Amino acid sequence: MKIFVVGATGAIGRPLIAQLLAKGHDIVALTRSPEKARTLAEQGVEPTMRQNLRFANADVFDAAAVQAAITDAQPEVVIEQLTTLPKTYTRESMSAAAAFNTRIRLEGGANVLAAAQAAGVRRYLRQSIAFWAVPGTGLADEETPLAFDASPAVAADARIVTELERRLLGNPNIEGIALRYGFFYGPGTWFNPDGDVAQQVRQQQFPIVGNGEGVWSWLHIEDAATATVAAAEQGNPGIYLIANDRPLAVREWLTTFAQWLNAPPPPQISVEDALQIEGGADAVYYGTQMRGVSNAKAKRELNFQPRSLEWVVDTAVVPTRNNN
Ligand SMILES: NC(=O)c1ccc[n+]([C@@H]2O[C@H](COP(=O)([O-])OP(=O)(O)OC[C@H]3O[C@@H](n4cnc5c(N)ncnc54)[C@H](OP(=O)(O)O)[C@@H]3O)[C@@H](O)[C@H]2O)c1
Repeated sequence: MKIFVVGATGAIGRPLIAQLLAKGHDIVALTRSPEKARTLAEQGVEPTMRQNLRFANADVFDAAAVQAAITDAQPEVVIEQLTTLPKTYTRESMSAAAAFNTRIRLEGGANVLAAAQAAGVRRYLRQSIAFWAVPGTGLADEETPLAFDASPAVAADARIVTELERRLLGNPNIEGIALRYGFFYGPGTWFNPDGDVAQQVRQQQFPIVGNGEGVWSWLHIEDAATATVAAAEQGNPGIYLIANDRPLAVREWLTTFAQWLNAPPPPQISVEDALQIEGGADAVYYGTQMRGVSNAKAKRELNFQPRSLEWVVDTAVVPTRNNN
């Protein structure tokens, strides 16, 4: 298929392009940066596949340029992976990035969706997020309501995701698929050994909040790409939760992550103390209330077979990462 990828040079875009090309698809990748385009073409893409990769240059805020690029490419499918998130994952950096990230998704995304529709694109997949199911017991599924009453930033994000998904899935002229990804880990992410969270954990700056009972769902970046390829090829319109088989409470994943990194144990902070800090209510949500998600639908319909989190094993023995 001819597939137009927006956000092609980001953490998920890079493995996604490589996997789409390996499956024989023709790719047009949007970027604002010819330099990034060159790097993308050189990294992770087999030389023999490069003839099926072409780049288009446009900023998603430039509706006319996006329209021209998609009309020119005439793709059957558009995959949108737009974000503008910082390389650091701290309350301050995320809060500073939030407004522009929302604008990219709402305004930039609207331009891409409108251009796709005008060009007669059959299928449109967009990045969505699995973090904001309403707190409760058991795993959330695609029908679980989102946490509109949660802490301020979480509730705002839940509303934005709902709006983005509504625009896409309510569009009768296009087959819309929203992929709600779990926490990315692996190359290019905050949780890679060279990523920002690993660095914070080494410096004991990433605490367990309260009892650490918040449950996180994880997704290796290569598995995120694999699920996305499957959804483009054979998914049904609607929402898919994409995460691995084993959601983990913070106190479990963070403790074992620190061991795996040969870092000191993570510090702990009480809920009361966390709430004193600006944005603390959101930290309490992620640390104590977040709910894991079920990947049953993705397994059933996309034959999704995610890998296990590399720093957690079923025996009590935590592997130590090879530093070479
Ligand atoms: N579910 C999750 O856990 C999740 C989800 C998303 C991101 N993250 C994390 O966030 C961090 C950064 O992620 P990332 O590398 O994907 O983000 P990024 O570096 O901000 O890249 C996002 C993509 O969006 C494109 N883009 C941004 N603004 C654009 C604009 N105005 N016009 C056209 N394209 C635009 C960029 O293209 P060009 O720069 O080439 O133009 C790039 O390909 C990583 O640690 C990642 O793991 C996590």
